[in-house]
Amino acid sequence: MRRAVYPGTFDPITNGHLDILRHVVGLFDEIIVGVLHNPAKHPLFTVDERVEFAREATQGYANVSVASFSGLLVDFCRARDASYIVRGVRNPADLQVEMQMAQMNESLYPEVHTLFVPASPALSFVSSSLVKDIASHGGSVRAFVSDVVNDALVRRIGQNGANAEG
Ligand code: PNS
Repeated sequence: MRRAVYPGTFDPITNGHLDILRHVVGLFDEIIVGVLHNPAKHPLFTVDERVEFAREATQGYANVSVASFSGLLVDFCRARDASYIVRGVRNPADLQVEMQMAQMNESLYPEVHTLFVPASPALSFVSSSLVKDIASHGGSVRAFVSDVVNDALVRRIGQNGANAEG
């Protein structure tokens, strides 16, 4: 069984994340989207909301499941018997950070290898942080997230940026 974890904060999941998933979905028997539960990061959405968005966005893939995790990513991989970590790379700055994390993860748990997937050029500028920033200033993010996430952003942040810092 070739099993991978696609980890992230996913606050919220974007079309950029889904683009990465689309590229690897055929490579593995099973992919677990691992949503990091880390309240210290003060995410906009709760872990349950982020898991729900990810489930809704990936429901078309029979071999993709979604679960939350806390603690070390390698411990989650070990518990799920996953040999691969999938990470999207949008630019050289991403690669620099991701390389270090991949090497650290592999030194902590040599049975796991990280697969870097270059973002599609049309989506390489999309990030959850920018999406939230744009939404908080009343901009439209419809092109970058699913309808469900878009509606949730409008509800949480407000169409004209009310409670944007919350
Ligand atoms: O989407 P993000 O926020 O870039 O994802 C980062 C994530 C969740 C992959 C990373 O923060 C992580 O793996 N956190 C779990 C704790 C951990 O294992 N830290 C050591 C990484 S070398």
